[in-house]
Amino acid sequence: DWSMSAYRAEMQKKIREQVGNGRVICGLSGGVDSAVAAVLIHEAIGDQLTCVFVDHGLMRMNEAEEVVRLFRDHYNIPLVHVEAEELFLSELAKCGADPEAKRKTIGRLFIDVFDAEAAKLGGADFLAQGTLYPDVIESVSFSGGPSVTIKSHHNVGGLPERMKMKLVEPLRELFKDEVRVLGRELGLPEAFVGRHPFPGPGLAIRCPGEITKEKLDILRKADAIYLDEIRKAGLYDVIWQAFAVLLPVRTVGVMGDYRTYDHVCALRAVTSVDGMTADFYPYDMAFLGRTATRIINEVKGINRVVYDITSKPPGTIEWE
Ligand code: XMP
Repeated sequence: DWSMSAYRAEMQKKIREQVGNGRVICGLSGGVDSAVAAVLIHEAIGDQLTCVFVDHGLMRMNEAEEVVRLFRDHYNIPLVHVEAEELFLSELAKCGADPEAKRKTIGRLFIDVFDAEAAKLGGADFLAQGTLYPDVIESVSFSGGPSVTIKSHHNVGGLPERMKMKLVEPLRELFKDEVRVLGRELGLPEAFVGRHPFPGPGLAIRCPGEITKEKLDILRKADAIYLDEIRKAGLYDVIWQAFAVLLPVRTVGVMGDYRTYDHVCALRAVTSVDGMTADFYPYDMAFLGRTATRIINEVKGINRVVYDITSKPPGTIEWE
């Protein structure tokens, strides 16, 4: 793609101009955007870049290992893997059920961890993020409407004053489909480039209500089964984003001769071009039935599955 290869060269020139001889740390989230940003920046400034992957305990099944493997083994990009599950979960336990409190707590802890890692590296001048154009607009206004905050998204512009590092955001002008083209241009594996978006706050915003490790473990299992069924049905690439949500509601069920009283799991799948608007995905009923049966049979703690048929707007893609 000629325009992307020109963009790549142009951005790398800008990155070099911005950072000079400075040290950059890049937060990896496990998603496409931060991975593309990291590879782009690494090509521009080499070992002035260190990647930091904060495992907040809110990742999906096996996700942390996959990210670490991709960066260390495939790219040989220096990567610090911070195990911060206990820190995040203990602070989140203080937030109760408030979605904005969860997001803000997670944003604050990310900054604390990045600051601490930068200090260990002898100081860093810049923090790189994979912020996209829709992140920039959605955190300011919504669909061209009045300037209201729907969610304190993406940490955009929300960095506390006390953070001394300056931001490097080479993808700020791009939409998701363009980031994927750029990722291919940079030689990222197709399986990684085609990954569904995953939000920075991770499973915390897919677990309405209070967050506990137990609920996160239940959610991870249901989500893995759901994605497995999507892949088997050949639907992964047709869908923009799909995930399970664990609801803070218990309902009565029956398993064999026993009464159960367990959580409800909601399944979400949408098609979209840029995440700004989205339509729910019209699965056939056989797919939904099969998936629900597997989740209920294989995941202890879930006894009912529902499918979310809300489009965006009026719904958002995530539940929080
Ligand atoms: P919503 O739920 O606002 O999501 O329709 C639109 C897209 O953005 C992702 N998303 C986030 N990404 N931090 C992120 O990095 C966040 O706080 C956040 N909230 C939503 C969401 O997964 C979807 O792709």
